[in-house]
Amino acid sequence: SDLLAFATGLPKAELHLHLEGTLEPELKFALAERNGIPLDQTSVEEVKATYDFTDLTSFLAIYYPAMNVLQTADDFHDLAWAYLQRASADGVVHAEMFFDPQAHTSRGVPFETVISGYRRAAVRAQSELGVSAELIMCFLRDFSAEYAMATLMEALPYRSWIVGVGLDSDERGNPPQKFAAVFARAKAEGFFLTMHCDIDQPGSIDHIRQVLTEIEVDRIDHGTNIVENPELVALVKERGLGLTCCPVSNSFVTEQMKSDEIVALMREGVRVTINSDDPAYFGAYASANYVALAEQADLSLADLVLLASNSFEASWLTPRRRAEYL
Ligand code: HPA
Ligand code: ZN
Repeated sequence: SDLLAFATGLPKAELHLHLEGTLEPELKFALAERNGIPLDQTSVEEVKATYDFTDLTSFLAIYYPAMNVLQTADDFHDLAWAYLQRASADGVVHAEMFFDPQAHTSRGVPFETVISGYRRAAVRAQSELGVSAELIMCFLRDFSAEYAMATLMEALPYRSWIVGVGLDSDERGNPPQKFAAVFARAKAEGFFLTMHCDIDQPGSIDHIRQVLTEIEVDRIDHGTNIVENPELVALVKERGLGLTCCPVSNSFVTEQMKSDEIVALMREGVRVTINSDDPAYFGAYASANYVALAEQADLSLADLVLLASNSFEASWLTPRRRAEYL
């Protein structure tokens, strides 16, 4: 459509993207074959038939087992490189990409294997695509704080390859404050901080309050529930914090896209950004997320320009690099 061409043509930053969530079925088959790993499904259609998500938990139950095909540094490189080529064609000129080292170290893949493969793709994106790509290391919140701290320590030799740290996976019963010491240490090491506050999770507003007042994050992933609380909206605006919203993802893991909430926050002047989250699973890369929201909420082209501009404002680019895009 014209709208898709417009959204694709907008230079934009992607700030909420899980590299493991970019594993398309075709690449999954290729890696399984390369590594001699048997799969339960034999066709792309069969794989897609398993993408039957009703909430975050049912999504994660499909998401983690799929990662077994990722074994070598080349595999991690190939995954990130495939995403970066697609993102570049989609108008993404800067990507801050989440990765989940514990989803791999917990099944015996060394940390160094994961990060060296991802880093090679990030460097290649700059030189071959002109896309600047950074890594954000996420801790899995359903594992212990001790395991998160050990992972942070393992990452310190690679400090310059990682721009920030995040928190993802199953939010139920795993509040931000469980990881307060880990994030305090990460801040002291100079990492930017962000955390998922997934939509409609139990304790959502309380979790958002914790990330703002106890963790003092630099950004919030999702965070759309903040719309319920004017005091927290005011705080986010005052600090100029970005919210990384993911409309198509929302439509899979909640009962709707949450477009009213996203647009209300945007109209109030919160730095709302639009992102794809796990595009291989939700079937929509960045531009398609802009279009889905625009069609649902009847946004103008000027609104889409504002959302793209917000993506740079909320990024962790240096002020000088940011200015090149604004
Ligand atoms: N929420 C929590 N964990 C995740 C997500 C998400 O949106 N995507 C991948 N892991
Ligand atoms: Zn996410």
